[in-house]
Amino acid sequence: MPSVAIIGGTGVYHPDLLTEVAEVPVETPFGDVRVTLGKYQGKEVAFLPRHGAAHSVPPHLVNYRANLTALKKIGVRSIMATAAVGSLNAEMKPGEFVFVNQFLDFTKGRKHTFFEGGPEGVVHIDLTEPYCPELRGTLARAARALGLPAKEGGVYVCTEGPRFETPAEIKMFRHLGGDLVGMTGIPEVVLAREAEVCYATVAMVTNFAAGIAACRLSHQEVVEMMRAQGENIRRLLMQAVAWIDGDRECACQRALSGPMEA
Ligand code: HPA
Repeated sequence: MPSVAIIGGTGVYHPDLLTEVAEVPVETPFGDVRVTLGKYQGKEVAFLPRHGAAHSVPPHLVNYRANLTALKKIGVRSIMATAAVGSLNAEMKPGEFVFVNQFLDFTKGRKHTFFEGGPEGVVHIDLTEPYCPELRGTLARAARALGLPAKEGGVYVCTEGPRFETPAEIKMFRHLGGDLVGMTGIPEVVLAREAEVCYATVAMVTNFAAGIAACRLSHQEVVEMMRAQGENIRRLLMQAVAWIDGDRECACQRALSGPMEA
C-alpha cells in the first residue's frame, strides 16, 4: 500500500518519475476515483491529478471528498499537493516555491466536511496548524538540498474561481495578510485533516496577481510556467518522497482522536 501520495494540480498531470505504473479504480461513497500507483526508489507512491488527466474539471467542481477518501482508503498517510498560485507579495516571485503555513478561505459553494450530522456526527476540527509542519519541513529541506528557490511559510488565499480575481479583491486580500492566491487548496487541506492524513501544499508562483501583474492574466500563462518548472517540481517531489518516512507517527494522524496519552 502506498503511504505517500501526490495530488497534481494545474500542469502536473503525469507521475513521470514513477516506475511500475498502474491505474486503479477506487470506490468511495462520494464517487469512484482513478488513482495511479507507481514506485520511486522501491517506495510505493500514489498519484492523483486533481483536475483529471486532461484538466477537464474546474476548481469549484473537483470532487475533493472522493479524492481524499480514495487516498485514505488505499492507505495513504502523507499527501503533497501541488498548486499553481498568483503572488500578492513582492518577495514571492514567479518561479519560486512556497510551502504555505496558513490559509484564508474565500470559497463559496463547496462541500467542506466529511461530517454532516447523521451517523458521522458533527466535528469541529482544529486548524491551528493547517498544513503538516513536518511534511512542510521535509519539502523545505528538499528544496534547499536541490538549490531550488523556495520560501517556508506564507498565507494562501483560496478563491472560488474559476475566474481570476479583480485588482480590488487582490488589494483586499493583501490588506488581510494574504501572500498567494489560488483556487483549489480549500477544502482539500481541511478534508485531509478530517481524514487524519498529513498534508502539505507545494505552491509554485506562476504570476503576480491581478492588478500587480503588468498585463492581463491567462490560464495559458499559468500552464506555461508550470510546464517550464515541471522538472524542478518533479525533482522536489521525488526528493521529498525519498525522505518521507511512511510509517512515522504525526499529530495530524490523530486529529479526531486527540493527542496520545504520555
Ligand atoms: N489567481 C488565482 N489562481 C491562480 C493564479 C491567480 O493569479 N495563478 C495561478 N493560479
